[in-house]
Amino acid sequence: MVLQLGPCHPDVGIEGNFAIVDAAADLGRTVTLCAKHHLSGLEGLVGVPGTVGGALRMNAGAYGTQIGTYVREVQVCRAAERKIVTLTADQLCFEYRHTSFAPDDMMLRVKLELPSKPYPEILDGIRLCNEKRRSSQPLGQKSAGCIFKNPPGASAGRWIDELGLKGSSVGDARVSERHANFFVNVGQARASDMLKLIAAVRERVRQAFGVTLENEEVVWNA
Ligand code: EPU
Repeated sequence: MVLQLGPCHPDVGIEGNFAIVDAAADLGRTVTLCAKHHLSGLEGLVGVPGTVGGALRMNAGAYGTQIGTYVREVQVCRAAERKIVTLTADQLCFEYRHTSFAPDDMMLRVKLELPSKPYPEILDGIRLCNEKRRSSQPLGQKSAGCIFKNPPGASAGRWIDELGLKGSSVGDARVSERHANFFVNVGQARASDMLKLIAAVRERVRQAFGVTLENEEVVWNA
């Protein structure tokens, strides 16, 4: 099966309640474009940086929304088998910041089924999420979003904050003063600075709470 894009937008096609989106499409732009076509559900994802493919791979979520809820089909390039395959929702598993894609699956295109809602109402939802995000996350600074997954029933950010680690740094990598699960680059931080800071904070949390925090970030070639 080939997922076709519509004529209006180069990387997003709308057909009734379905949005067919290239994996390389910008996530925020996709959310607002769907909204303009009265398709809702993705409001919480506005402000999550990155592409639709990245959001799919990690099952990006915020404010009660996760992208996996709306996935009906995903077309991937399965490198190991050297072919393009279309996976249907029943062949996929989307959990908290985890999916069943093979490690070398390259996301190509996704078919989302989204509930209908009037545009002004969707816009209100987007504004609300934006306000919450602006008031609690360091949006103006360079970061990769949250560093650690939340342990079941707990908040990594709250724990790091309770330990007084906001502002801790290695080189120019620093624990955000605004949200302790965001580590920001305040200048010329190197990947190695960030990795050292992550390791140090993880160890402090392990000592204090007896839990080893799991990275939300995927680290390549560390
Ligand atoms: N908190 C603190 N100090 C902090 C940060 C948070 O006390 O420095 C407290 C808050 O006051 C709140 C609780 O911890 O009572 C939870 O904080 P928040 O509402 O900010 O949510 P979170 O669990 O830290 C998660 C996601 C975010 C997502 C928000 C909103 C994870 C790891 N993080 O953050 O996702 O935007 O909820 O839904 O699941 C991301 O994944 O990169 C990300 C930013």
